[in-house]
Amino acid sequence: MRIVIVGAGNLGSVIAKSLLSSGLSSDAIALVTRDFSKNDLVHQNTGVRPGELPSLTNDDVIVLTVKPQDASALGAGLRGSLPPKAVVLSMMAGVSIATLTEQLAHSNVARAMPNLGARVRESATTYYVPPSFSFEQEKLVEQVVRSCGQAWKVEREELIDVATAVAGSGPAYVCWLGEQIEAVARECGIPGGNAHALVLQTLKGAVAYLEIDGATFAELRERVTSPNGTTAAALEVLRRAEADTTVRRAIRAAFERAVELGSDSKRGGSDSRSA
Ligand SMILES: NC(=O)c1ccc[n+]([C@@H]2O[C@H](COP(=O)([O-])OP(=O)(O)OC[C@H]3O[C@@H](n4cnc5c(N)ncnc54)[C@H](OP(=O)(O)O)[C@@H]3O)[C@@H](O)[C@H]2O)c1
Repeated sequence: MRIVIVGAGNLGSVIAKSLLSSGLSSDAIALVTRDFSKNDLVHQNTGVRPGELPSLTNDDVIVLTVKPQDASALGAGLRGSLPPKAVVLSMMAGVSIATLTEQLAHSNVARAMPNLGARVRESATTYYVPPSFSFEQEKLVEQVVRSCGQAWKVEREELIDVATAVAGSGPAYVCWLGEQIEAVARECGIPGGNAHALVLQTLKGAVAYLEIDGATFAELRERVTSPNGTTAAALEVLRRAEADTTVRRAIRAAFERAVELGSDSKRGGSDSRSA
């Protein structure tokens, strides 16, 4: 088995590094690039020397980590060189399996959507494997997605768009909330660096506690909210402003945008920015 990663950019490099850290040898990883001027840098960053597309075998997993707008050119390049049993795992946002199957003239195509956490092997990834995949082929997909963090299989491909809105954009929502808390800390006199560290540690502590305790978000919120206390005062302002409705509307907007980008890419549109 060999993992052939096509696209040695941000995500491709992260996947290569994660696979090495998970115990795979560098001989079992091929990192395919089209810009050889960056080879030394990519090698230095990942531990894998990039190169041209090797000749592929039925045991290979080909991981696609190029931008969605490069998908059709890549498809044209790969078409005809994919052995029938080789597994293609696309990590491109918004490019459907149907589109890839057509572009690649290949039927074993799965999709995965890692998120920012992958850079520190803490990804919240979702993946979809079509029912036609064999048990062994699915295990190969799992091996790749689990190398960079935790991964959940979804039963319908469309749920990848939900995951894009939830987990792909999720770090930005958390950062937005962190920004607001930090702003008040600064406005009320805590020096900048300390304000940032204080909020960061607050988020970290809440996550660590939730992981160990197993409480739901609502349960922990209720536990730390004493009647008439400080937290209750803050939550009352949010309740009156119907902030929950606004936040849910915002996340639904991300979902609708993910669906829209998917339709654009089917029509060959170029505005395919990801999460
Ligand atoms: N970044 C993330 O955390 C993340 C998370 C989830 C999903 N994704 C998805 O991952 C994909 C890549 O994102 P990214 O941020 O890693 O983009 P990126 O940094 O631009 O990397 C894409 C790389 O693919 C290369 N490439 C394009 N066409 C190629 C071809 N035919 N053969 C070989 N290499 C080719 C590009 O080369 P050039 O430099 O020559 O253009 C570039 O190095 C996107 O589809 C995105 O939706 C990314």
